[in-house]
Amino acid sequence: MSTSASKPRSIVGGNWKMNTDKSSAFALARAVAQGVSQAHLHSRVDVAVFPPFPYLLPVAEALAAFPGAVMLGAQDCYIADKGAFTGEVSVPMLKDCGVQAVLVGHSERRHVIHEGDDLIEAKVQAVLNAGLTCVLCVGEKLEQRETGQTNTINERQVRNGLKHVSADLLKRVVIAYEPVWAIGTGKTATPADAQSAQHAIRNVLADMFGDQPAAAVRIQYGGSMNAANAASLMAEVDVNGGLIGGASLKPEDFLAIIKAAAH
Ligand code: 13P
Repeated sequence: MSTSASKPRSIVGGNWKMNTDKSSAFALARAVAQGVSQAHLHSRVDVAVFPPFPYLLPVAEALAAFPGAVMLGAQDCYIADKGAFTGEVSVPMLKDCGVQAVLVGHSERRHVIHEGDDLIEAKVQAVLNAGLTCVLCVGEKLEQRETGQTNTINERQVRNGLKHVSADLLKRVVIAYEPVWAIGTGKTATPADAQSAQHAIRNVLADMFGDQPAAAVRIQYGGSMNAANAASLMAEVDVNGGLIGGASLKPEDFLAIIKAAAH
């Protein structure tokens, strides 16, 4: 079954991870927003940056100089609104800082911090119930790919993450397919491999929500995407943008990727 007749509007995210400092975060956000604004790229593609928590406010201030160009995102959140959860940050707090989108289930949260399926699913609900965009990250590890489990792993992560999501709330869900072996390694998936995995993910969405809601979901590719390989990856029908780590820390590289998504 094909559910990919027309491509939804692309979305490109810059996941800064645990990088930058206060002044470089401000400068990076400003350079990205200025570049997007000057080239009117936001008329054709959604752009978001995901700075570390302490820099959300200065980054919000930098982005505000170019209204509507770049969305402010957060790399994680907690499931409760407030209370005795030392070290955690709630979705209402993020909203209060101007955050519009939140990453949930990033590979580094799953495999370094050991977040489990239930917590990830609750975070998806917390983000969507607060009215924000949820970027649900999924992807297989190398040994899972080598043993033919790519689609099974992605299906399990998608089905679990979206277990309690309605077709209406799905409109604010973005899926980021990030094969773990491609993250930060310089080993990018081939466009054909990305398309194959992402088409399978769309078919899971179609089974869960129906063909039309599934066709409207943006599925990003992430994992060593850069200025040189972005266009060929995003030319694939089920690749609707990218979630960029390392290359999002250099404004000229990130802007080149955004331009590729806008074409
Ligand atoms: P890299 O682009 O550095 O491989 O990171 C991808 C990623 O994890 C984005 O969330």
